[in-house]
Amino acid sequence: MSRQKELAMDFLLHLFPRVVLRRNLRFTYTFCLGGLAFTALLMLMATGLLLLFYYQPTPERGFPSILFLESSVWGGKFIRSLHRVSSHALLLLLLLHTLRVLLTGAYHKPREMNWVVGSLLLALAVFAGYTGYLLPMDQLSLWATQTGMELLAMAPLGDQLRTILVPDGVGLPLSLLRFYILHVVLLPAAMLFLSSLHFYRIRKNKGVLPYL
Ligand code: HEM
Repeated sequence: MSRQKELAMDFLLHLFPRVVLRRNLRFTYTFCLGGLAFTALLMLMATGLLLLFYYQPTPERGFPSILFLESSVWGGKFIRSLHRVSSHALLLLLLLHTLRVLLTGAYHKPREMNWVVGSLLLALAVFAGYTGYLLPMDQLSLWATQTGMELLAMAPLGDQLRTILVPDGVGLPLSLLRFYILHVVLLPAAMLFLSSLHFYRIRKNKGVLPYL
């Protein structure tokens, strides 16, 4: 093996612990809720990628492109429903995963960093759901987003945040574009990065047990 290859291998190997005990990953302890949440995230990314082939992020074309997808594209309605159901599943699984972590006290040292990373993931997942809600541009989307923005305006720094997210009014070109970029690029990328950090920390902590 060349010296560079050896160095690269050493670096990769040092990222992982030497051992992760099988009993430390026992199913009845985690119920695989984190793994299932990650599966839902991957499902969202796969179905979202397919939706990108038809969705057009402009106020004029947004809603018609969804109607076209549902009525004239083979499997379009199915993929859209799968995307929506997966988003509900992700939030539900994250709530259950958080509850499991709370009930087993798994947020204590040395796992406090994963608690923080997990909380960020939860916040990003909720925000991703919110930004996605506007994209179909139907009446429900517009009014739900409007309500969210009114709520945001009441929070500290809310007005400034609202101006960044919605510079020209809910559903107008710039705000739709910003929600779209957040929903399809920035939030998924941030969630993938944080998930990798989450998994890396789990391995560094040598799995999830012993606790109880
Ligand atoms: C997309 C979001 C998330 C994914 C994919 C994910 C994934 C995982 C996985 C696969 C595990 C291994 C054990 C298990 O399955 O329970 C785990 C552990 C853990 N997660 Fe998450 N998680 C996410 C969000 C969260 C949230 C919202 C929190 C809490 C606020 C959190 C806190 C933790 C902690 C503290 C551990 C270590 C538990 C232990 O050592 O027993 N995670 N996560």
